[in-house]
Amino acid sequence: MMIAADLQALIDGGAVIGRGQFTRVYGGERGRVVIVTIDPLKEAYAMDWLPDTPLFPRFESEGHDREYRSVYTAPRLDVGSKIPGGLRGVLRPRQWRLYQALRRCTGCIGTGAQWDNARRFDSLPAEFSREREYMREAIDCMHNWCSRVGFEVSPRNVAATAGGSLVLFDVFFDIDRAVRRERF
Ligand SMILES: Nc1ncnc2c1ncn2[C@@H]1O[C@H](COP(=O)(O)OP(=O)(O)OP(=O)(O)O)[C@@H](O)[C@H]1O
Ligand SMILES: [Mg+2]
Repeated sequence: MMIAADLQALIDGGAVIGRGQFTRVYGGERGRVVIVTIDPLKEAYAMDWLPDTPLFPRFESEGHDREYRSVYTAPRLDVGSKIPGGLRGVLRPRQWRLYQALRRCTGCIGTGAQWDNARRFDSLPAEFSREREYMREAIDCMHNWCSRVGFEVSPRNVAATAGGSLVLFDVFFDIDRAVRRERF
């Protein structure tokens, strides 16, 4: 389904607030953003298959644009790399510890551990056993769209809510797509 004309107009207007390898993000209405992407994994955030936790944002599917890129709307987030003083200053203490622990789970592309999903989150401390389960479930979910799921936590790809919770909006990627260096 083609996106609504007002959404296409907003995109054509071009108030880009963020861009990545596969995605452009536009400022939307009422605290929301418009996400235009060629990253198939984004579809996961618009479906009900991700574990029920505020760690993952929920997108609304809007259809496709003229070029058949997928378009979503989502809540506008405070992205880590743009927070003056950084995530540490805004995340609650346990959420900051979780962020640091997840960063240490980032694997190197090319090592076997990168796609040994059963073990991927073994290094998370015991206090995050629930989150370990969420992360494994999320990786399982991402396998609906690709066979090798990469995981990387960086300030550009996580955010904080006004209440100091960590949000992981772009931490999974298709390793094969990344290697092909495909771009928006
Ligand atoms: N909900 C949001 N609210 C505010 N800014 C956002 C939001 N989602 C994404 N952004 C901004 O847009 C940028 C690109 O989005 P995203 O990371 O999802 O794209 P990507 O192309 O998949 O990224 P990458 O290059 O890491 O693969 C982010 O780094 C961030 O700065
Ligand atoms: Mg990104």
